[in-house]
Amino acid sequence: MEMQELLKKVEELKIVPVVVLEDAKDALPLGQALIDGGLPVAEVTFRTAAAADSIKAMSEAFPEMLVGAGTVVNVEQCKQAIECGAKFIVTPGYSEEVTTYCCENNIPILPGVCTPTELMMVVNHGLPVAKFFPAAQFGGVSTIQALAAPYVGLKFMPTGGVNAKNLADYLQCKSIIACGGSWMVKSDLIKAGEFEKIKDMTKEAVSLVNEIRA
Ligand code: 3PG
Repeated sequence: MEMQELLKKVEELKIVPVVVLEDAKDALPLGQALIDGGLPVAEVTFRTAAAADSIKAMSEAFPEMLVGAGTVVNVEQCKQAIECGAKFIVTPGYSEEVTTYCCENNIPILPGVCTPTELMMVVNHGLPVAKFFPAAQFGGVSTIQALAAPYVGLKFMPTGGVNAKNLADYLQCKSIIACGGSWMVKSDLIKAGEFEKIKDMTKEAVSLVNEIRA
């Protein structure tokens, strides 16, 4: 998938659920709950050993879903994620190695940043969007607005502390294409097999996005 195609879809959906899966058997019911809830997208984080298998299971079962890999910290994980079917890579901080690898191999990447220096690197790679992380702790919307001023045209995907209460503040900012967040896919719910609840919370998140759009 091309970067622009990915970004177009992410911008339409406006939320990227950030998922931590301890057990790859949860990947399919989780994917189904997100699809049924109206958010066919997931950033499956390499925070657990089940990440690669979960990405593989989800992307094979739901080819139309945007399954990406998050918390990618090295090229090895990046290659593994792509082999398993990940359509995009998200890093928590800026990695020159991972960013260069993705750019050279035409793999969509949203590098994690929270400073103007890191943004210079993103801009120098010609990338259009950065993940701003952790968003709430680094000043939220007002920091994004300040960072966006010198980097004309650059867009952000804030993640970290985004929830149903503050989503509108973020999405109203024109430099923000979408928000990442785990509030509708909390690990406790996944572990407890509460996929109906995940579906309902996903639906609520989608309704919020629709209200914000209206
Ligand atoms: C991430 O990895 O991007 C964050 O853990 C997601 O942040 P949240 O749990 O505060 O939504």
